[in-house]
Amino acid sequence: MTDSLTIRDNRTGEEHEIEIVDGTIRAADLKKVGGLATYDPGFVNTASCRSAITYIDGEQGILEYRGYPIEQLAEQSSFLEVCYLLLNGELPTSDQLAQWTHDVTHHTFLHENIKSLMTGFRYDAHPMGMMMSSVSALSTFYPHASDISDPENRYLQITRMIAKMPTIGAFAYRHSQGKPYIYPDNELSYCANFLSMLFKMSERDYAADERLVKALEVLFILHADHEQNCSANAVRSVGSSQVDPYSAVAAGIGALYGPLHGGANEAVLKMLRRIGSTDNIPSFIEGVKAGNERLMGFGHRVYKNYDPRATIIKKATEDVFEVTGVNPLLEIAQELEKIALEDEYFVSRKLYPNVDFYSGLIYEALEFPPEMFTVLFAIGRTPGWLAQWQELVTDKEQKIARPKQIYTGERQREFVPIDQR
Ligand code: ACO
Repeated sequence: MTDSLTIRDNRTGEEHEIEIVDGTIRAADLKKVGGLATYDPGFVNTASCRSAITYIDGEQGILEYRGYPIEQLAEQSSFLEVCYLLLNGELPTSDQLAQWTHDVTHHTFLHENIKSLMTGFRYDAHPMGMMMSSVSALSTFYPHASDISDPENRYLQITRMIAKMPTIGAFAYRHSQGKPYIYPDNELSYCANFLSMLFKMSERDYAADERLVKALEVLFILHADHEQNCSANAVRSVGSSQVDPYSAVAAGIGALYGPLHGGANEAVLKMLRRIGSTDNIPSFIEGVKAGNERLMGFGHRVYKNYDPRATIIKKATEDVFEVTGVNPLLEIAQELEKIALEDEYFVSRKLYPNVDFYSGLIYEALEFPPEMFTVLFAIGRTPGWLAQWQELVTDKEQKIARPKQIYTGERQREFVPIDQR
């Protein structure tokens, strides 16, 4: 065996040979080294699955869905086409895309009882909490979804979920605004319909500016998948119990709700507002370098180069601002980026703008309140979660997720009656 690792156990003097495949060893193989296990909080260096969906090279700043560079997809593809690609592994032919678009478009309506459920939330309910609960509730409307071994049934549930996410997101938004919910318009494209459900008032038809529709398509494409991130891992972990996909995706939404995952773009806006003017940038940067705070929207666990999504978003901001007028915070963001990219502190630590540095500026220009930012992320990420889920349930190697622990508590204590404690 050449691709192998020899481990000498100094406790016993025994040597063990362990196979290396794809740059990994199987943690289970370590059991033969005196019952050894690995300890890896946050899965920093542990592969949990084999996946053929998304490829990232953080050093080079490369992101590919099913082998296609994100730059080409963002420029030439539509969001529904990217959904098809992520879920099926290949770009659709025009017939396949027409069928897929038809199927998604005809599942955009929600059952009236889901609408009633949503109206029951408090006036100030966070739209992400409303979305998580509504997606979870869908499992009770489609009990057949629990038959996850039937490919046709899986297709139906996947179609439903991709179709209904914008409707749920828009209803949650309208609820927080105290405005009547707007039903889907199936004459419109996926993103144009979403904008209509969000912003339509008394006009007969709502026609969104095509440049804004395109910007939203691009944003959804950029967020569509990012391999084994926190929420994809949550979907896989919950899905590994073989629960229905609505329950598994609801878990992913819960993970995305957290500030360490979906909330950074809001923090960028707050930071830019606090800086207030380009004159204040040097002192702000000094504070960051002194360790007082972080430059939000910079740095990434995986990317040690410019996040390829940030480059595309930066371009999209220009298109959006052409329609909406320039967000005054843009000038501060651009100057901040310029200064940071030339500063030794950021250069030596390989800190570059990430996807969140500019996305909040676009969302704000589109008049979304900050609470909606993660909802937009969730709609874009849904095909990724479902592709990950489908790959999981069709992978014979996968088992129910059940990590080990290192037990640090007490052992074998005698119960003490309450009057003697
Ligand atoms: N500003 C200033 N310094 C930073 C920043 C930052 N944004 N990010 C990292 N550093 C510094 C750290 O202080 C550390 O310096 P040191 O070696 O002198 O101690 C070094 O760079 C390495 O940082 P880590 O925290 O070890 O990097 P890690 O990979 O764990 O963190 C993270 C990545 C969480 C994204 C971090 O860069 C960060 O907090 N960025 C700001 C928040 C943000 O933009 N998050 C969005 C990420 S993208 C997304 O989730 C969709």
